[in-house]
Amino acid sequence: MEGVLALIKDDLRRVEEEFRRRLKSRVPLITRIAEHLVKSGGKRLRPALLILASRLCGYRGEAHIPLAGAIEFIHTATLLHDDVIDNAEVRRGSPSANVLWGNEASVLVGDFLFSRSFSMMVEVGDLRVLQVMAEATTQLAEGETFELMKTGDLSTTEEENLRMITQKTASLMSAAARIGAILGGAPPEKEESLADYGLKVGIAFQLIDDCLDYVGREEALGKKVGTDLREGKITLPLIHTLKNCSKAERDFIREVILDSGQSEEQIEAVVRIVCRHGGIAYTVQRARDFVDEAKEKLMIFEPSPERAALIGLADYVLERDF
Ligand code: FPP
Ligand code: MG
Repeated sequence: MEGVLALIKDDLRRVEEEFRRRLKSRVPLITRIAEHLVKSGGKRLRPALLILASRLCGYRGEAHIPLAGAIEFIHTATLLHDDVIDNAEVRRGSPSANVLWGNEASVLVGDFLFSRSFSMMVEVGDLRVLQVMAEATTQLAEGETFELMKTGDLSTTEEENLRMITQKTASLMSAAARIGAILGGAPPEKEESLADYGLKVGIAFQLIDDCLDYVGREEALGKKVGTDLREGKITLPLIHTLKNCSKAERDFIREVILDSGQSEEQIEAVVRIVCRHGGIAYTVQRARDFVDEAKEKLMIFEPSPERAALIGLADYVLERDF
């Protein structure tokens, strides 16, 4: 990941400046909350995807900076809303905004960032870019709503899970890569390849995220583990386990998922069942397959430092700290 970031270091610095400039509001609470979020870090994966894809396609203009800023604003808005939905306590190693300022303020500042991102895109003035982003954010909202509908539903299938993570996570990464291609004036087959690359990287990213929720380290993740189980989120490690475990184990898992006040011991027992039935190993393997497919999509491009960086970015998704 260091190599990826080194290549676009100057652009990423300019994106950070853009954030700071565009966070300003006449309402001090908005500026305070938004600054807390943007300053508390984040991997800037989506801006990196957009910038690298644009450069891979030969773009030499300036619009990638506000657009990379806009996509990170949208991502941050969705996290604000998601932490309210998930009753999260920690985000990026700090107490989450819903804990510090409450649900109402979190939702509203999410709305502010979301709206501001569209102003930034309108200023760039490319209708296709706006169309891609509007489509991606519709998908995000659909995916998150579908996940909500499926909460606690132990009959959720792998296909349904794939559809859900494609919408809620991969669609924005795909949009980032596609917008880079649009800026660079790439021909349709190259634009599609980059959009597919982003989609597959996004799916792999969420699959690993769902593993880390079972077996990650809280210090490395900057958020609490075990949250999915506590919230009744049925992700692929559990879907695979439910398909392969005994009836007694399935009954126990159902009881834990449907109980609102689960104990640490119950959560740990479910984690052990998931590990015993290879739920983590299976999900990591699926993520590996998606990363391989993503990298394959880049082979339509000639070798270049940007292509190598995008390959590195795909690999990074699998190397995130367990
Ligand atoms: C994180 O998932 C959540 C998302 C990737 C999408 C959230 C989308 C919305 C809230 C709806 C759309 C909102 C707008 C403003 C368009 P997670 O809970 O699995 O990840 P986490 O463990 O990091 O919280
Ligand atoms: Mg969440």
